[in-house]
Amino acid sequence: MIYLDNAATTRPKPPGVVEAMTDAMMSWGNCGRGAHAQALASARAVFSVREQVARLFHAKRADHVCFTPNSTLALNIAINGLLGPEDHVISTDREHNSVLRPLYRLHQQGMGLDFVQANRQGQLQYEEFEHLLRPNTKAVVCTHASNLTGDLTDIGWIGTFCRAHGLLLILDASQTAGVFPIDMEAQQIDVVCFTGHKSLLGPQGTGGLCIREGVEIRPFAVGGTGVQSYLETQPADYPARLEAGTLNSHGLAGLGAALDFLETTGMDLIRSHEMALARRFYQAVHQIPGITVYGDFTTEWRAPVVALNIGTYDSGTVADELAERFGIAVRPGAHCAPRMHRALGTEEQGAVRFSWSWANTEAETDQAAEAIRILATEV
Ligand code: ALA
Repeated sequence: MIYLDNAATTRPKPPGVVEAMTDAMMSWGNCGRGAHAQALASARAVFSVREQVARLFHAKRADHVCFTPNSTLALNIAINGLLGPEDHVISTDREHNSVLRPLYRLHQQGMGLDFVQANRQGQLQYEEFEHLLRPNTKAVVCTHASNLTGDLTDIGWIGTFCRAHGLLLILDASQTAGVFPIDMEAQQIDVVCFTGHKSLLGPQGTGGLCIREGVEIRPFAVGGTGVQSYLETQPADYPARLEAGTLNSHGLAGLGAALDFLETTGMDLIRSHEMALARRFYQAVHQIPGITVYGDFTTEWRAPVVALNIGTYDSGTVADELAERFGIAVRPGAHCAPRMHRALGTEEQGAVRFSWSWANTEAETDQAAEAIRILATEV
């Protein structure tokens, strides 16, 4: 089987991840709940994962890394905890439903909401941000890369824009964390929302928010924190403020091992390997008659994703053919990215998305391209 659905979740995980999770399950107590050796082992290890995440995003404070089960929950916490009906927000057509649905719900409650539109090629017109500003604009919420096309958003530009206009920048790094540099200080990002199971190469059930010092997020869930138990309200200090209930410390053990792998191997090496494979595939398929590839392949940097269609062939049928006849796993359909599909004109057909990770090879990539060449001759 050739797994090219790494934008949905990376597979396999690197060496050490499974072992770290098993060790944690066999030995740790509950992080932050008690002072015996087993609870302290968990608490120390979880704090060291906070430090790894803070290092990754160039954040000043490891105690401002708060863990959640996924980036959807992290985005819900950031969006609902910073914004309200009196505010106006700018977002983009590139967003996933994990950004769109929390924003739409606030919009229904009165919040102003505008989108920088993507053109037919999926590109954003950055001058639009300026035109959409209102006196009550409070934030830009945007993804670092489209999960459909892999096109990167220029977060350096957006960070400078936000700082110039006193806006918060909430970044969805679901598709890029671990592989593309994110520098909260240099790029002036207020909150980075991340998931552990994609390019961070960790287990599902891990994710979180990395918060700039001074950004005050209202808690979404309240409950047990293991500290200040007699308070009737959620403790004010991060990370407890946003972490009600027992953490997924076993998953975080795996995330820590995945971050060790990323640090040891080097983000640049992994990114160039993945990008080279995606580009190799693009070069092999984009001129096949009947193939439409989405996104901008003229730029040097893009997430390792190629989304395409074969004529008017339904994307779900193509993905089934790839799985059943060629043993290739990809993701078709809408990818929870409705505005991007509308922008690209693929709302009905969807698109067939191929996505690479650290373990994929040139041979797999060439086999996938050959499968597309064969399918294209059959329609
Ligand atoms: N959001 C994930 C994807 O793009 C699951 O496939």
